[in-house]
Amino acid sequence: MKKYPKNDLLIRAAKRKPVERTPIWLMRQAGRYMPEYRKLREKAGDFKRFYKDVELAVKATLLPYNILGVDALIIFSDILTPLESIGMKFEFKEGEGPVFENPIEAVDDIEKLGEFDVEDVSFVGRIIEEVGKEINYNLPVIGFCGAPFTLAAYMIEGRTSRDFKKTKVFMYENPDGFKKLLDKLTDMLIEYLNFQIKSGADAVQIFDSWAGYLSPDDYREFALPPIKKLISSLKRDYQPVIHFTKGVAGFFEDMITSGADVYSVDWMVDLKDVKEKINGKAAAQGNLDPIVLYAEKDVIKREAIKILDKWGDDTGHIFNLGHGLMPDMSVENVKFLVDVVKEESRR
Ligand code: CP3
Repeated sequence: MKKYPKNDLLIRAAKRKPVERTPIWLMRQAGRYMPEYRKLREKAGDFKRFYKDVELAVKATLLPYNILGVDALIIFSDILTPLESIGMKFEFKEGEGPVFENPIEAVDDIEKLGEFDVEDVSFVGRIIEEVGKEINYNLPVIGFCGAPFTLAAYMIEGRTSRDFKKTKVFMYENPDGFKKLLDKLTDMLIEYLNFQIKSGADAVQIFDSWAGYLSPDDYREFALPPIKKLISSLKRDYQPVIHFTKGVAGFFEDMITSGADVYSVDWMVDLKDVKEKINGKAAAQGNLDPIVLYAEKDVIKREAIKILDKWGDDTGHIFNLGHGLMPDMSVENVKFLVDVVKEESRR
């Protein structure tokens, strides 16, 4: 039976209920910057085998629990995980990231995609269940997925891109085909996130990492509607939805109509403005520039406090970075940030 987490600071902050202090977790908190992660990664061989191996993936998910003392654990997986089920073939190449063997090149390729079968990702459900048990339900376990636009961009681009040229040309030349692809992905993600919630995820985060490359008009036409549909189709009890977008400054007012409980923003927006615009109708997550973690400790402390002060003593803020931790960061500095936020945000 699924148990409600004992430390529920993240859920309370997400629902804007009173908190004793600001909860903190960090995007990419289990990653290569930890020597313990690198050991697990070596054992697995490659990254895909790593996230499919329940025992190893559970161990990776738990690393920040013991080493950092964060207030939530995000399951160790990837946004591309469900795409194999619909027939996308990809590998993670060292130093390059994901590379697809069969990117989407024409509208016909969309018709050829297979049906999503949640059985193909049953390992994700087992990871969520096992993590909950391992920590005796002490912390919320966060499930996640990529947003339809970001996943479509990977499928068309075939790899990480600087300008998303292929994606945008496809979108402009075949807007209906592009929307068909977004629809297909949205249906898949509804099933995928509902499965994660049913397996015990206490919150879910939607990563729209690449939507910030769109114009506000294109964001409203292509990226936002599928997210609204996704969020409104989730069967949840208390589990908040966190909506993350990188580069959101140009269309933040649109983003906050998605229906999420929490809006996760990068450092290019002022958290004070975010608070004003949200106006008590949702919570926010973020938004320290990850680069601050390369600086000396007094700088880390100063910049963390600056962000805490921008939100003030009200509930409704989850501390995080504006984007993920980098492989060459110092574990000591990351741990220092967690300690500072816990200490300095006490009400
Ligand atoms: O946050 C966490 O700790 C949970 C795990 C997690 C990973 N990827 C692990 C990972 C999460 C939430 C993701 C999401 C993800 N994956 C996103 C959205 C967030 C973001 O960064 O904007 C994106 C765009 C991806 C796609 C992806 N996966 C890329 C571009 C790469 C290569 C870049 C890199 O850092 O090597 C990956 C691989 C990946 N995903 C790694 C990890 C720990 C590195 C794999 C390794 O070599 O060990």
